[in-house]
Amino acid sequence: MTATQTRPAPGAALRQGLLARLAGARERTLLLLEPFSDADLTAQHDPLMSPIVWDLGHIARFEELWLLRQTVGPIAFGEMPGLFNPFEHPRRERGALALPGRRETLATLADVRRRVAARLSAGGIESNELTRDGYVWRMVAQHEEQHQETILQTAQLKRGKPYAPALRAEPAPVSRRISPGAMVRFPGGEITLGTDDRTAAYDNERPRHPLTLAPFRIDAAPVSNGDYLAFIADGGYADARGWSEGGRRWLGESGAVAPLYWERRDHEWWTRSMDRAAPVDPAHPVCHVSWYEAEAYARWAGKRLPTEAEWEAAATWDPAAGCARRYPWGDDPPNGARANVDQLVFGTAPIGAYAANLSPIGCYGMIGDVWEWTSSDFLPYPGFRSFPYSEYSEVFFGSDYKVLRGGSWATRPGVARSSFRNWDYPVRRQIFSGFRCARDD
Ligand code: AVJ
Ligand code: FE
Repeated sequence: MTATQTRPAPGAALRQGLLARLAGARERTLLLLEPFSDADLTAQHDPLMSPIVWDLGHIARFEELWLLRQTVGPIAFGEMPGLFNPFEHPRRERGALALPGRRETLATLADVRRRVAARLSAGGIESNELTRDGYVWRMVAQHEEQHQETILQTAQLKRGKPYAPALRAEPAPVSRRISPGAMVRFPGGEITLGTDDRTAAYDNERPRHPLTLAPFRIDAAPVSNGDYLAFIADGGYADARGWSEGGRRWLGESGAVAPLYWERRDHEWWTRSMDRAAPVDPAHPVCHVSWYEAEAYARWAGKRLPTEAEWEAAATWDPAAGCARRYPWGDDPPNGARANVDQLVFGTAPIGAYAANLSPIGCYGMIGDVWEWTSSDFLPYPGFRSFPYSEYSEVFFGSDYKVLRGGSWATRPGVARSSFRNWDYPVRRQIFSGFRCARDD
């Protein structure tokens, strides 16, 4: 052993595992594409979203950049070909680009993957910060899976014939009862937040660091449609006094009177999830609300949104053991039996359908169903170091974005981890966003 010796590059078993992970991501991408017509793939369905072929071409170019062009160390993200470089063309303009059609895009995806697989199978990969423990391959698989959720947002927004998935899973029946508005207590004290993981976590989740929390209470379940209906019925949108200044501005600009996709039909609220229109089900978590709506609801309820640190403590910290769990329920990774993740339910599930989806202090559904808005701005943790490219996280840090946690029904298990930090503008609600409330103890 010499001092300069580095950890070995991925061995044969790890390389097999990484290939399987990439293949799993691709299999799902192709499944999600099936119901779309060629015109659906190339159209820009909404200024907020790219044409779906753009997401696909971007997935291919991202993979090519990181898994083929990088050989001896970090490559500049700016070297991504212009057409599919997100920083060169804002989403609302991507419909006007000369994008390739379905066949050419699928051929590019397959071609890049063939070369990636050949290279990975051959071995002899240099060990460096990117390749160590297979990080960069997992990053690329995760990137594809994140764009799957983006594609599902587009599918949900799409007017005309709604998106009808080719395969669907049903959630389990409700097996755990949680009273509306019930809260659980977190005793406060010193906790640790974030992770030191270098196999899958993004730079913005690191490093794990200590933090002291005051005692607080947090909702035992996400705010349900039933809870939210009471807010609407009580004049929640009509009386802007309970809204913050930014919230009032958004309310005026958007003209919103209910969550996105809700529609009043004969004295009853209806909504649509993918191809299914139905009366709003009071038992499901509320979805498609902006941060401002979440904030206004919380004020109306005499509560507030949790901070990001409170959210993570409520999801993972075991006060009795004095340490964090990997996931709310323990060490086992998420799957469609433990939580409503992995897309195939194609919507939210009634609260209580996943009995085991419970954190140490008794919070239900911290992982899956809906991303949960927190009160926190998207900021670096103390000791943050950008890796492997500043365009993933660093360029977005600041007070323009609010953090969302926990993943939604449209999040793949490989992304839906307790330390994962999502972020968006407080006005956005085409994302699968809900929330739960907190209060000081
Ligand atoms: C983490 C959802 C904010 O879509 O902008 C995809 C994910 N980053 N490709 C985004 C992402 C690069 C990102 N969010
Ligand atoms: Fe991307």
